[in-house]
Amino acid sequence: MKRIAVMTSGGDAPGMNAAIRAVVRAALAQGIEVHGIRRGYEGLLNEDLFAMNSQSVGGIINLGGTILRSARSKRFQTSEGLAQAAEILTTHEIQGLVVIGGDGSMKGACALNAQCGAMVMGIPGTIDNDIPGTDYSIGFDTAINTALDAIDKVRDTAYSHERVFIIEVMGRHNGFIALEAGLAGGAEAILIPEIPYDLQAIIEQLDEGYQRGKRSCIIVVAEGATRAADLQKYLEENSEYQARALTLGHMQRGGSPTAFDRVLATRLGAHAITRLKAGFTNEMVGVEGDRLVANPIDYVVQAQKHIDSQKLALTALMAI
Ligand code: F6P
Repeated sequence: MKRIAVMTSGGDAPGMNAAIRAVVRAALAQGIEVHGIRRGYEGLLNEDLFAMNSQSVGGIINLGGTILRSARSKRFQTSEGLAQAAEILTTHEIQGLVVIGGDGSMKGACALNAQCGAMVMGIPGTIDNDIPGTDYSIGFDTAINTALDAIDKVRDTAYSHERVFIIEVMGRHNGFIALEAGLAGGAEAILIPEIPYDLQAIIEQLDEGYQRGKRSCIIVVAEGATRAADLQKYLEENSEYQARALTLGHMQRGGSPTAFDRVLATRLGAHAITRLKAGFTNEMVGVEGDRLVANPIDYVVQAQKHIDSQKLALTALMAI
């Protein structure tokens, strides 16, 4: 293998830069040239490639965002786009493609492999942590700590003013961020898209808590379960509680990656190169326990990652 390319695609995540750095340096150490592709699959279609060296990735391990930038490409999702992307890889003599991103990005890599047999290797990078085949995706740890910092700060003012605060975190289709940040932040309730909930039951739960002496409360909701503003309105219209809503939004995607995310990114980046060099393709690297693994991307894009119901049960247990 003489030349590979690396891209970041889909929603950015803290630690993507650390992963790019690891891919580039691990590849160079094996005598493999690396090209960076800017703006994901869209950039590939625009032939926005450039040669990278060790210095290209100097001083980025601590940076949020992605130096390669990112995009969501509609063109790439058409059969013409896919064929064109495959052709561009051939023209530039790219023998392996490392894609750092979420589930959509893994689907793209899988499609590219099916189209032309391109050697692809995925690295899970999304704050959502919803990708099967790995316990953690790059960016999740940083995002939950960002959300936790906000929850802790809001708790201070919730206590002072005896209010109910609803904090909305990201997660269109799943509640991994909500569950982890909510549990760590001591939330009284956590609403996630995977589990149906009953708004009246939440008011009853609040009532019971207040009868026991609680005077403030934190409810963490995943954006895919309900919007914080809607729940605030419901509480105001259907109870006596003074409620306030806070949506954390895209700040969860930014910031300097935690030590956990930097180490994860470095291990996964280097592992991706080891697998490619050994001739493996159409895989996504990951961690299970503390072990580095590689799973078929076909499995990764079809399977579903499930929420840990024991953790959810703990939230209820701790709220009494
Ligand atoms: O990165 C994943 C994610 O953060 C989701 O949780 C969220 O719904 C989505 O991206 C929003 O992304 P964008 O605003 O970039 O489309």
